[in-house]
Amino acid sequence: MDDRPIGVFDSGLGGLTALLELRRLMPEENIVYFGDTGRLPYGEKTLAQLRVMAAQDLRLMAEQDVKAILVACGTLSSNTPELLESFPIPTAGVLIPSIRAMAEAPGDGALGIIATAATIRSGAFERALRKACPGREIIPIPCPKLVPLIEFGHTDPEDPLLQEALEEYTAPLQKASAVLLGCTHYGIVAEGLRRLLPEDCALVSAAACGAAAIKAQLEQRGQLGGSGEESFLVSGDPRDFARSASVLLGRSIADKVRRVPIMRIET
Ligand code: DGL
Repeated sequence: MDDRPIGVFDSGLGGLTALLELRRLMPEENIVYFGDTGRLPYGEKTLAQLRVMAAQDLRLMAEQDVKAILVACGTLSSNTPELLESFPIPTAGVLIPSIRAMAEAPGDGALGIIATAATIRSGAFERALRKACPGREIIPIPCPKLVPLIEFGHTDPEDPLLQEALEEYTAPLQKASAVLLGCTHYGIVAEGLRRLLPEDCALVSAAACGAAAIKAQLEQRGQLGGSGEESFLVSGDPRDFARSASVLLGRSIADKVRRVPIMRIET
């Protein structure tokens, strides 16, 4: 038993989809969440910038005395896997568990990957999926409009700006039997996506896959345990984050959000 918190981080609200899943799987765990809201979107950063940011974010998490870290971000999981693997605290990203879930998804149609521009550019999900599912058609779609829309509150499936973007990104996926939500933000607009994809198309959430991977790691090491506490760190405006996050989580976190300084990217 180890009651130190699990560290979870992302550029902003997206990782909360992983936090919700962690809570469902392990309500008793303590969690420290970091949303790097002062520097998002990660999906528009260069590889050099992402490397610096990943190292800084991991260090910030380590300073919170966490027992494990969930990198609840497809962009960092796909662009900086070597940093996650070599970090001294056990760290899971969303890439490896997502590929496993996609390979096991029902159907034998095409496999879609929707993710940020930086994730698709890295080719990491596509390569891993090609290896896991040889011969299957793979359709990677960069969706640069989605994170800014979601962070600015355009999350209602009826929102015209969201609908327009989702129609554009789902049009090439009409023959897919499974689509990977390769950016953790996309779970927030899953309902809008669901409406535009074929009825029998499976939606695989990278966030949920990452949460399940962390649970398995902690179980294996006999490290489960805690009292369900939560705290939130953000590098942008804490009130903005608290407002949006409270809606997503379905409970107020206003008194649990603290600001940390924006870390400088010197590349
Ligand atoms: N939610 C993150 C991801 O999974 C980052 C999105 C962004 O900031 O562009 O890729």
